[in-house]
Parts: sequence; structure tokens; C-alpha cells
Amino acid sequence: MKRKIITTGDGSKTIQIEDWDEQYHSKHGAIQEAYHVFIEHGLRLFNNTNIKLLEIGFGTGLNALITLLESKKQQLDITYVGVEAYPVSMEEIAELDYCTQLNALDHQEKFEEMHRSPWEKSTLITQDFSLHKQQKDFKEITDSDTYNLIYYDAFGARVQPELWTEEIFEKMYRALKTNGVLVTYAAKGSVRRAMQHVGFTVERLPGPPGKREMLRATKD
Ligand SMILES: C[S@@+](CC[C@H](N)C(=O)[O-])C[C@H]1O[C@@H](n2cnc3c(N)ncnc32)[C@H](O)[C@@H]1O
Repeated sequence: MKRKIITTGDGSKTIQIEDWDEQYHSKHGAIQEAYHVFIEHGLRLFNNTNIKLLEIGFGTGLNALITLLESKKQQLDITYVGVEAYPVSMEEIAELDYCTQLNALDHQEKFEEMHRSPWEKSTLITQDFSLHKQQKDFKEITDSDTYNLIYYDAFGARVQPELWTEEIFEKMYRALKTNGVLVTYAAKGSVRRAMQHVGFTVERLPGPPGKREMLRATKD
């Protein structure tokens, strides 16, 4: 499907799938949304030093990059697993120019290394951040009792309803350790109920600018 790069409300860029009129991030602000949903309401919950994290939809790598930046501040040791079926190109990464927008040009090389690192292998990006990209469909995830935190960043239910069902959240629930947390930008009632049906305790939290709510699900 055809992808094009657009500028969002906070000046940061994202990819748009033209045929679906769907973006990789919020049109109101890509970086703003990523920090709000995944860092502020996800990563910041953890003060244990070793965190195993699963990202559903590695895509542009923006979430991995801001997690690396944040993990330095919080002095965390992160094992980051990013699942993605349709990798973006290095040309797209260059055009998105996230390190400039994040005022993190000193991390440009590390960010490129994240994208160049081989699939299906673990790569040490820094001493405290390892990245394991897996190129596969989300439906093939079979991990159990493995992760502390899941960034659930699939395209919306309007275009990929099959990624917001009990079947997929059952897999996410199994993949998490006890007390593990899944965060997502989504807030639909049907999504919340699917999460609750598989056993999650779900909180409705204030969403990023332009969105009233988001969801956080905990495996108690
Ligand atoms: C909303 S985008 C978010 C990407 C990423 N988190 C980011 O910040 O750029 C969703 C991602 O899921 C990927 N994707 C869509 N369907 C998939 C599937 N069934 N299995 C694996 N990846 C999929 C897309 O290619 C896209 O990169």
C-alpha cells in the first residue's frame, strides 16, 4: 500500500497510508502522542531497573527511540522486542527526521543502528538497551509470561478490526508477566470490553491532545 510522509500538529512527521486515510501516529502530534501514551502512561510506571518490553508495530522506530532516551534518564535496562510485518525504508526514516525534532541529534547514529540491525536477532544498541526486531504477523506471537510492558500500537480498529479482538488480547495477556501492563492510544468501548473479557483490569486515562481517552490494561 502507498505510504507518504505528512507533518502533524506538533511539527513532527508521520507516515500516512493513503488508501486507508490512516496514519502511523496522531495527526494532532506524532511525538506528543508517543510520549503521552507510551512513556508517561507506560514506561514511567516502572522503577525496576530491568524491563522487558514488547512493541506491537515497530514501524518508524519512534517509540523505541524515545524509550532509549527516557531509559537513560530513568537509568533503566531495557530489552526491547519490536514486532513488525512491513518494515519502513531507510529513506523514509531519513525523511521523518525524528532525531532533529527530538533535539537528539547525538542519537542519530543509534537510531540508524536500530533500523539497520538484523531481524530475528538481539542487538546491543547501548550497554543498557538491547533491541530484537521480529518480522512477522502479530498473530504469530506465542510468548508466555515474558514481558513487563507492551506498547500496543497497531493501526486503528476502523481499518484493522482483527487486531482489536479478544483473540489478539488473549495473546497479549499470555505474553505479559503478572503485574505486566499494556498501553494503547485506543479508547473504544468494544476494545476495553475485549481486554476485560480476557482478564485484564482496564483503566481509562486522559488521551493525548486531540483525543479524550486512552486505555491501560494490567494483568493482575
Ligand atoms: C500505527 S503503526 C505504528 C508503528 C510504530 N509503533 C511507530 O511508532 O511508527 C502500526 C504498525 O503495525 C504494522 N502492522 C500492521 N498490521 C500488522 C500485522 N498484522 N502484523 C505485524 N505488523 C503489522 C504496520 O506496518 C505499522 O508499522
